[in-house]
Amino acid sequence: MVRCVRVPKAEGNPVRMSLKAGGLLDIDHRITADGDSLLIPILCDSFGGYPIEDCELEEIEHQETDYRMFLPEDIREILPNSFDCIGDLIIIKIEDELLPYKTQIGDALLKVNKNVRLVLMDGGVKGELRIRELEPIAGTGPTETRHKESGVTMITDPAKVYFNPRLATERMHVASQVRDGETIIDMFAGVAPFPLVICKHAHPEKVYSIDLNHDAYLFMKRNIALNRADDIIPMEGDASEAVKGLPQADRVIMNLPQIAYRFLDVALSKTKKGGIVHMHRIMERSESDTLTEQLIDDMCQHGLSCHLSEKRELKTYSPTASVYVFDIVRD
Ligand SMILES: C[S@@+](CC[C@H](N)C(=O)[O-])C[C@H]1O[C@@H](n2cnc3c(N)ncnc32)[C@H](O)[C@@H]1O
Repeated sequence: MVRCVRVPKAEGNPVRMSLKAGGLLDIDHRITADGDSLLIPILCDSFGGYPIEDCELEEIEHQETDYRMFLPEDIREILPNSFDCIGDLIIIKIEDELLPYKTQIGDALLKVNKNVRLVLMDGGVKGELRIRELEPIAGTGPTETRHKESGVTMITDPAKVYFNPRLATERMHVASQVRDGETIIDMFAGVAPFPLVICKHAHPEKVYSIDLNHDAYLFMKRNIALNRADDIIPMEGDASEAVKGLPQADRVIMNLPQIAYRFLDVALSKTKKGGIVHMHRIMERSESDTLTEQLIDDMCQHGLSCHLSEKRELKTYSPTASVYVFDIVRD
């Protein structure tokens, strides 16, 4: 039996809210309709002069939302508190000391994330194509998935191509800057998330989407068809070669943070005067200003006059380094 207040239906919501605000609502039992009244379970003996009754109410099972609660208490503090969700996959980094618990970690993540099908342990990004080493630790099925972001659906496979769901805000930021009729080049496009989000939220004339990875090129083509984004031109190859035949661009995206700066001359030579290059770069925080000034001086000396219009810190990369985006305008 549960103690309840009998409240006219019309007054149910305000009564429930004030009980909740005062910590007097019994959240372990379900509020139930009875004729024109609601029976609201309470943790006190009286409330607001409403009639009090003892009733049988259905018990509510509370879903645990923190996967760490399913693991031994003595390791909870050192368990990762963040991971990436790509479509119906979770990708999680696990420190060496926690490796004996990897299956339990995977199972616990599946338990609290009902939409997730497969949990993969992240072994880091390797090589020129920036492909992640992944080991399935719980769940079933292939590593290919469909990821939704900013109104776009993208097919991707993190075991074959690079894809970073944490860039969603940066992609929307770039899309918000695009003016009607722009020509855009994405030199390191992956499965084309920047081009797709841009075409969904802006009206460029053409977006040339280049990647060296054959699998990325195949996903790009599927994503263009899936989103009916006919203004995106998929291209496979080395960006420094592939850009040669392209028209001058209003905007060039360079999302290859380890080495994009080595391609800045190629990007600027393909950018119209007044156009902009979004260059991603990992840098020591203490050096980010001086190294960027040097890079821009270098470009100017080689006849590619330009200036920095904005610098954004995207995320922390290590205790001393961050991933930045530099917006560089061609003069
Ligand atoms: C960091 S990923 C960025 C992917 C994509 N922009 C995203 O947000 O998911 C860099 C991409 O550059 C590609 N890449 C590396 N070197 C390249 C090159 N020389 N020319 C074209 N693409 C290259 C890799 O295959 C990879 O897909």
